[in-house]
Amino acid sequence: MPEATMNHQTKVALVTGAAKRIGAEIARQLHTAGFNVIVHYNQSTTAAQELVEELNSERENSAVGLPADLNDHTQIVNLAQQSTAQWQRVDLLVNNASSFYPTPIGEATNADWDNLINSNLKAPFFLAQALAPALTQSHGCIINIADIYAQRPLKKHSIYSIAKAGNEMLTKTLAQELAPRVRVNGIAPGAILWPEDYYKKTEEQLSDENKEKMLAQIPLLQRGQVQDIARTILFLAKDAPYITGQIIVVDGGRTLTI
Ligand SMILES: NC(=O)c1ccc[n+]([C@@H]2O[C@H](COP(=O)([O-])OP(=O)(O)OC[C@H]3O[C@@H](n4cnc5c(N)ncnc54)[C@H](OP(=O)(O)O)[C@@H]3O)[C@@H](O)[C@H]2O)c1
Repeated sequence: MPEATMNHQTKVALVTGAAKRIGAEIARQLHTAGFNVIVHYNQSTTAAQELVEELNSERENSAVGLPADLNDHTQIVNLAQQSTAQWQRVDLLVNNASSFYPTPIGEATNADWDNLINSNLKAPFFLAQALAPALTQSHGCIINIADIYAQRPLKKHSIYSIAKAGNEMLTKTLAQELAPRVRVNGIAPGAILWPEDYYKKTEEQLSDENKEKMLAQIPLLQRGQVQDIARTILFLAKDAPYITGQIIVVDGGRTLTI
């Protein structure tokens, strides 16, 4: 990937899990808004490289990709260090990366617990801790992506819901502890993109019949778009200087009906 050069004036955003889907749109919109963007990825190397090239072709040396497996504590800390070293500042951390799949009681394993808790809860905590000095210096902010199923249990997804519930509390504890220099907020999306069946465990949930049933339960009768989440990120990052410790639900009204 192209080596990004120093530009100490431009704000810098680290978006985890940014190679594809919601994370990629967040990275694109932050970039359009003038941020230099660090595209974190794990397995999606090609997609990350393509996104970084796309962003750099719009503005030279404005994006870089950094790999890290968020199951590995050393890689989490290295990601924070490399992110800070890239442009000598970090202004925004978006904890977007997540693993998601069912773990019905009776089938969940120790590895499932680690995988779901690590990406959705533990890595956001340790990234925030490692980046707190840089964010304090830049008067920056953190945005954690939770889920409407942090507040309500998603059937057969115990560990995921527990992890996202912890993620929402993390938003509040960090907001309290990092104030007044760093604001910390969350976004709880409803149905935006159907899950990619990375783990070959969500076939049942993804049947056409179940998708239609779910859409019918959303007052706005459709899924949200990735842009809805990215726009909310921009609002929290740029236009909400007096908001901290809050979680904004972006769900087309879904939580009114479940
Ligand atoms: N999609 C929705 O409708 C929806 C609904 C509610 C909440 N959300 C939340 O919104 C956020 C984005 O959703 P999404 O559907 O776009 O996410 P996603 O595609 O399921 O996952 C985003 C990225 O997370 C990364 N990731 C997973 N485990 C990782 C690990 N151990 N280490 C490093 N990276 C890891 C993956 O990166 P690589 O591909 O590079 O490996 C993946 O591309 C997530 O926090 C999700 O929980 C989404």
